[in-house]
Amino acid sequence: MSAGTQATAPPAKRPAVTLSKLAEKKALGEPIVMVTAYDYPSAQVAEAAGVDVVLVGDSGAMTVLGYPSTVPVSLDEMLMLAAAARRGLTTPLLVGDMPFGSYEVSDEQAVRSAQRFVKEAGCDAVKLERGGSSADRARAIVASGIPVMGHVGLTPQTATALGGYRSQGRTADRALEVTRDAIGLEDAGCFALVFEAVPSDLTELVVPRLEVPVIGIGAGPATDGQVLVFHDLLGIYDGHAARFVKRYGEVRKAMVDGVTAFAADVRERRYPEPEHSYTMAPDEVARLRGLLEEI
Ligand code: KIV
Repeated sequence: MSAGTQATAPPAKRPAVTLSKLAEKKALGEPIVMVTAYDYPSAQVAEAAGVDVVLVGDSGAMTVLGYPSTVPVSLDEMLMLAAAARRGLTTPLLVGDMPFGSYEVSDEQAVRSAQRFVKEAGCDAVKLERGGSSADRARAIVASGIPVMGHVGLTPQTATALGGYRSQGRTADRALEVTRDAIGLEDAGCFALVFEAVPSDLTELVVPRLEVPVIGIGAGPATDGQVLVFHDLLGIYDGHAARFVKRYGEVRKAMVDGVTAFAADVRERRYPEPEHSYTMAPDEVARLRGLLEEI
């Protein structure tokens, strides 16, 4: 935990988080907490910490699957991660991130992929990136009965077209484009939006014009909630961390220290000790000696 940060215990037993609960939180001005998770243990941690929304982000392509970007991850890989996360959760809303190439071609493709997140992985909702044609895809998925979260600003699946992994909307014209994307996704029926890597000024001016909750990552404090990538916030991921990442743990260091200590104990024959071993009754040992002599 960073200096000056205080952990408070999560509520003991909470009702499952619903879309109306998120809308209510926005109305009451209560910040929404979202984290990513990609497997059973990370989902269990999110559950125990009492977060509101868990996103099985396609950032898992990099943080857990080792790809250089989010682009290569397949729908089947995302479904496997999402199904594992589902098994670790009961309370937070679970959102599956639709990977690049799983929704852009047609409304039919988008609905089919979204249905797989719900049927095969048990997700409550899906997320997709960008405005424009993605708003049409979002409308089609919403019409099929599946809630959709939109994502504007820096959209990593199309980072190359945006000029790289850099903040978006820093000129008035480009900020207006981001705003139009957000409004288009809200009009398409999205229940919430992610604003990624946009100036705080843009967020301050645009969030009050939107009815749905806006969850920010590098979008300043004026959003209705915040999301961070699990491996970034806990210091598990060794790759580049964006400016907006705040570290609340150094878990990778703790893991490397633990495995290093294990390796040293094995090499120095300090492990296992008697309490880590099983025993036989002395008469059974004696009988075994006799049996071994016979063969
Ligand atoms: O994939 C992801 O982790 C995301 C979050 C950054 C919102 O899309």
